[in-house]
Amino acid sequence: MRAVAWLPVAAGTGVAVALGVYGRFHEPPATVDLAGLLPPLTAKVWLATVAVLLAVLQLLSALAIYGRLGGLDAPPWTAAAHRWSGRLAFVLSLPVAVHCLYALGLRADDSRVLVHSLCGCLFYGAFVTKMLTLGRPAGDGPGWALPAAGGVVFTALTGAWLTSAWWFFTR
Ligand code: HEM
Repeated sequence: MRAVAWLPVAAGTGVAVALGVYGRFHEPPATVDLAGLLPPLTAKVWLATVAVLLAVLQLLSALAIYGRLGGLDAPPWTAAAHRWSGRLAFVLSLPVAVHCLYALGLRADDSRVLVHSLCGCLFYGAFVTKMLTLGRPAGDGPGWALPAAGGVVFTALTGAWLTSAWWFFTR
């Protein structure tokens, strides 16, 4: 495989590490109220939950595009549904993660909080890798690169949600 095929992975790793270093070493201020409308906790939990539901739509539409839904034909709008659910999930995750990184930082109080912080950083790194992989000319790099990047994006977001919003709902 050509060295240039690894550039998206290198860029994504750089983003994930940079977010982690920033989250770990800056001094978090007092809690920031999201939009001043809702308590940050409630707003974050629900924004994250909608983002994860959209990510499930991403997974299902990707499986349909790759013909992995048990012989079901993907309707013509599947690719558009995949693109728009992904864009919306990303946009909804941003205020949540900005609050996390800026107001809370990367913490390791216990294993749940550490796993959550690492999944959050991995999510944005893997997202950068996926976007750069999408932008490569067809045939440049292995065919599994895009599904692999998408799988890491999905896993990282689900992990961040399970260790924050799901924990909040079930506590
Ligand atoms: C970018 C890297 C991220 C870091 C460093 C980070 C860090 C943290 C930390 C330290 C907490 C407090 C945990 C606790 O004490 O229980 C937290 C809470 C939370 N995070 Fe993140 N997080 C990140 C990304 C994300 C992402 C991508 C999501 C989902 C879209 C998310 C959703 C939440 C939610 C819903 C909470 C609970 C509300 C709260 O405690 O304020 N985080 N995060």
